[in-house]
Amino acid sequence: MSENTPSHGSSPTTGAAGDTATPVPHQGHRKRKLALRKPAPEATLLARRTGIFGLRRLSRDDILSVIPASSMRLPIISGKVLRRFHIVTDPAGNRQIFKTNFINYPKSPEAKGVLAKALRHGLFVIEGEEWRWQRRALNPAFAPRNVSRLTPPMTRSAQEATDRLAGVNGPVNISFEMMKTAFDVIVRVTFAGGDGESTVPLDAVNDAIEHYLDKTARVSMLDYLGVPSWIPRPGRMRTHPTLKALKAGADAAIAERRRNPNTKNPALLDLLLDAEDAKTGRRMTDAELRDNLITFLIAGHETTALTLSWALYLVAQEPDTQRRAAREARTVLGSRAATEADVDKLVYIRQVINETLRLYPPIPVHLRTAEADDVVCEHAVKKGDTMIVPFYALHRHHKHWKFPRKFIPERFDDMGQIDRFAYVPFSVGPRVCIGADFAMQEAIIILATLLARHRFKLTDRKPPKPKLILTLRPDRDIWLEVSPRGPVKPA
Ligand code: HEM
Repeated sequence: MSENTPSHGSSPTTGAAGDTATPVPHQGHRKRKLALRKPAPEATLLARRTGIFGLRRLSRDDILSVIPASSMRLPIISGKVLRRFHIVTDPAGNRQIFKTNFINYPKSPEAKGVLAKALRHGLFVIEGEEWRWQRRALNPAFAPRNVSRLTPPMTRSAQEATDRLAGVNGPVNISFEMMKTAFDVIVRVTFAGGDGESTVPLDAVNDAIEHYLDKTARVSMLDYLGVPSWIPRPGRMRTHPTLKALKAGADAAIAERRRNPNTKNPALLDLLLDAEDAKTGRRMTDAELRDNLITFLIAGHETTALTLSWALYLVAQEPDTQRRAAREARTVLGSRAATEADVDKLVYIRQVINETLRLYPPIPVHLRTAEADDVVCEHAVKKGDTMIVPFYALHRHHKHWKFPRKFIPERFDDMGQIDRFAYVPFSVGPRVCIGADFAMQEAIIILATLLARHRFKLTDRKPPKPKLILTLRPDRDIWLEVSPRGPVKPA
């Protein structure tokens, strides 16, 4: 990969933390303690120039491994592999691409490729006026008032997860447990509503989503770089019966709810059925409804599960942090499961989630295509260039974060100190994640409930390494020792 050196930015060779680096506690002994902390597991980024066949080999195993390590020290790296590209890890560049000039940077076809075929009417992949009206119509369903109405299934699933762990002896497959918990939440929230009991058939949906995520949701980095489609690459999107089953499940749910509307305990499905563009009065067709339901299942299931698995791994690696988080959870909750009313009091738990999302943003690389010439970070961008924005590298950038490799939830003590274009786990600008509040609520409820009742310890298994296969996943399942904490003493 050819690389041009940047024409501005922080010290590219030393990458010393500059004035803009976000704060961490700075008392002398505390700082020394932090410096001694073990780095959190990290991906191996590209250390030296590699030709196209080397890139292909690397990206087959882990797409992140073709992102240059120097992107964690430089603001922009430009080059060409068949097509011109710019790797941007600069907050100002980020702001330009995702916010101030976002019209010039629609999602690259390759970025949408894996989802576009399956969910072509869904919010994640549509652009322009189609996206604008759907986003207007869907926003109210995710407004704080509605998100609070959707939380009882989160509490119920958190309670079930902690009960399951209470019954286990020995190490637990946390990846599996969190996948199951987040899946329970999203299916209940989407189809069942307040009481968590579904009246629509979900077996097909359950089977299909597992298969979909496992087998087909892969994208090759070579897609990003414009390598011709005749070159065979791993995990190309295929049409397959599971996708049909998923759609059939969603269609059945929509038909059922059209026959028997549910107004008492609305699920996301009911809110979508009522969704209307306030500007035009337009409502969604069944195909649009169905693709959005599946979009929410896919976008809302794995992202949150991964965040929770990494968070538990990180607190197991840092027992002091775990003790503080557990103390807070037990003070607020006692031994019951967290509800929506507790979320604002779980301040440190929120910081643990924030820091987990910094180290492991579930969607770690974003691709945009320039529609017209522009200048980003003083580099000329030509129409058709690919903008590669690796949030993973931005979140570990040496200019913007002190001790970027370490897990330090305290850096989020004051959110006002965080540069909102340097910390973007939910993206930023008009296409920011519609489910961000929902996801934070869910992650806080589940993590607090688990930490109030259980202690998590590392096992002697090999540590997991983050790897990009559409989402940032551990290269092996995360296993942890789980043991009960004593009963909570009454205050
Ligand atoms: C920790 C959990 C989550 C993370 C880190 C996350 C992250 C993101 C990011 C980075 C984007 C922008 C993608 C892009 O520009 O290509 C996005 C978009 C989106 N997310 Fe999330 N997400 C999470 C949970 C959820 C949940 C729970 C839902 C729904 C229930 C959801 C639904 C969506 C949708 C529909 C979009 C597309 C929005 C648009 O283009 O207007 N996400 N998410």
